[in-house]
Amino acid sequence: MDCKVDSLISLMTLDEKIGQMNQYNGFWDITGPKQDKLSQEKITHLRQGLVGSMLNVTGVDEVTYVQKIAVEESRLGIPLIIGFDVIHGFKTISPIPLAESASWDLKAIKQSAAMTAEEAAAHGINWTFAPMVDIYRDARWGRVMEGAGEDPYLGSKIATARVKGFQGEDLSNHRTIAACAKHFAAYGFAEAGKEYNTVDIGTSTLHNIVFPPFKAAKDAGVKTFMNSFNEINGIPATASRFLQRDVLKSEWGFDGFIVSDWDSIGELHEHGVAETDADAASLAINAGSDMDMESGCYVNELKTLVESGAINEALIDDAVKRILKVKFELGLFEDPYKYCNIERQHIVTGQPKFHDAALGMAKKSIVLLKNEGILPLKKSGLRVGLIGQLAADKDSPLGGWRGKADYNSAVSVYEGLKKYTGNSLSYEKGVDVFPEVASFVKEVKVNPKDPSGIKKAVDFAKNKDVVIMVLGEHGFQSGEGRSRTKLDFPGDQQAMLEAVYKVNKNIVLVVNSGRPLVLTWADQNLPAVVQAWQLGTQSGNAIASVLYGDYNPSGKLPMSFPRAVGQLPLYYNYKPTGRGVMEEAVFWSHYIDEDNTPLYPFGYGLSYTNFNYQDLDIVNNYEEDGEIIIKISVTNSGKLEGKEVVQLYLHDKYASITQPLRKLKGFELVQLSPGETKQIEFVLTDHELGFYDNSGAFLVEDGEFDVHLGGDSKQTIKKAFRI
Ligand code: GLC
Repeated sequence: MDCKVDSLISLMTLDEKIGQMNQYNGFWDITGPKQDKLSQEKITHLRQGLVGSMLNVTGVDEVTYVQKIAVEESRLGIPLIIGFDVIHGFKTISPIPLAESASWDLKAIKQSAAMTAEEAAAHGINWTFAPMVDIYRDARWGRVMEGAGEDPYLGSKIATARVKGFQGEDLSNHRTIAACAKHFAAYGFAEAGKEYNTVDIGTSTLHNIVFPPFKAAKDAGVKTFMNSFNEINGIPATASRFLQRDVLKSEWGFDGFIVSDWDSIGELHEHGVAETDADAASLAINAGSDMDMESGCYVNELKTLVESGAINEALIDDAVKRILKVKFELGLFEDPYKYCNIERQHIVTGQPKFHDAALGMAKKSIVLLKNEGILPLKKSGLRVGLIGQLAADKDSPLGGWRGKADYNSAVSVYEGLKKYTGNSLSYEKGVDVFPEVASFVKEVKVNPKDPSGIKKAVDFAKNKDVVIMVLGEHGFQSGEGRSRTKLDFPGDQQAMLEAVYKVNKNIVLVVNSGRPLVLTWADQNLPAVVQAWQLGTQSGNAIASVLYGDYNPSGKLPMSFPRAVGQLPLYYNYKPTGRGVMEEAVFWSHYIDEDNTPLYPFGYGLSYTNFNYQDLDIVNNYEEDGEIIIKISVTNSGKLEGKEVVQLYLHDKYASITQPLRKLKGFELVQLSPGETKQIEFVLTDHELGFYDNSGAFLVEDGEFDVHLGGDSKQTIKKAFRI
């Protein structure tokens, strides 16, 4: 490979080398602030070999169009790498990534990524800008829908599963695509959850919380990284040598390439660290950004910088070699059109196996938050009423970052339920929350008040045995550019919920959202609450299957759900502080107007059956062979078959750096028949016992540890051991 790359680069002019570092947006979707079309200038640059990659070019016809210009009309004919945001599906849409993460089913998550890759690849795409592996703790941020939640251990396992799902065992296979770990780094720590906001983050949090999923993605062989828009402690990530050269490329030995985020090189000017585009290009290339997404700074400024001696050409060569290597590994030099087969595009798109995978994933992503026995619903003899605009919505369940999904292509809750209820299901929209069709780039319009809609819902609910209410956010109220200051139901939905409750208490609340919402009133009053996120194409079928008990819910929360938005940032792996709990007086770490605990904790999720934990046993072989073996027995004490995520948390009680009271360090998804008991075994090694200090060194320190096991991060049984 190195010989091929070196021989090719020796043929290239400086212009052609810089061309490989230049990525243009295509004709169609705009995912960044600049409104742009494929201009004549871009076509000319393609012909001159001044473009190495394009994004938002999709479909065999469109990809072939631009690839032919690059390959057949430029001097060296170097093929383009074609990137797209294939985040949770291309045409067949799986649940949003935060929902998939609630399954804790790594095999299913990997399979979901593989299905997504195969469908996207059939449309000419050979690189996805996924997985997003940012850790975050603030549900006000719109992009919490896009990742794996608040925990670095779960986030690392899911990052690995998604990278391996997208890239497969053989990247040169036309069903697999290059993946991209993003956004490096700490974008999820934007202050106050405000999109693109400043990030001031402690070294310990950076090393122990933010970096691990990126390191896991790198160790899983991810071919590309994407840097982030945000500054970190005064240095924009795109201009950060520390992040891109010292940590990623040197310390971790990453040998793929880093693409900037959309115009993030150009935005160094807005950050106020670059006066001109030349300054921006210089900062970014010195810091290790290899490819420039849509700013034009590299293609317009780098040549002059090299010729004037301001930039060493070796930096250009290193970036270009990294890019060419990935193109070789994708097999694009052997056959630049290998992803462009129009028959395959027709045959592969929307295949039953994609829908099966999406349905399976959707069922596993649903989290049962409360159930006083009303669920699962009896399949006959019930007068069921369905209320809520979202219940009949076939577009919102696709969520944000929905690839090239067709409009209104999701199965609605109404359609899913009808398969169970036949014509006995009656429906009332109730309040008109979203009066207009929402789009990727526009704010969702919300109707604040609809008293007539509330009256209709109340009259409708009076003579029903059960009322299913689907309430929540529209799919485009989370995702990029969608931070919120409130975590309530938009519009008049809460007023409608409380008005209906006055006439009929048998309400099953199904929540659609791209983030944790504040469900405190529902938890205090309703008999059942189901978190159904945005579940993609098969949404309605999955929800119906769970409500009627054909699938016993098994999801567990990957993010804490707050009692009030004022608790944010909120997360389970918090530090003890010097005054964590005090019985009397006020001088301890708490709020005077709200409980400290989450409404629903990380790792929490109910089932239609019950699981008991017993016989926690520790075999401490650390001194001999560096292992601590933890055994636990789990019993299904209910009447239904069910799945449980057995979770293991560690507390390193005394260390040189303050440690969280709980750190997830193991989990196992187990299926148990009624009455069945299984013994689960976890092995703890230095990798689980250690932590990073503020120099970035990994330490394992002697001392006492508590190990906690259970079905969520709060309800656990514990034992101690020493090393
Ligand atoms: C967007 C996002 C990034 C995405 C890129 C290309 O602004 O920040 O996640 O991959 O631009 O669409």
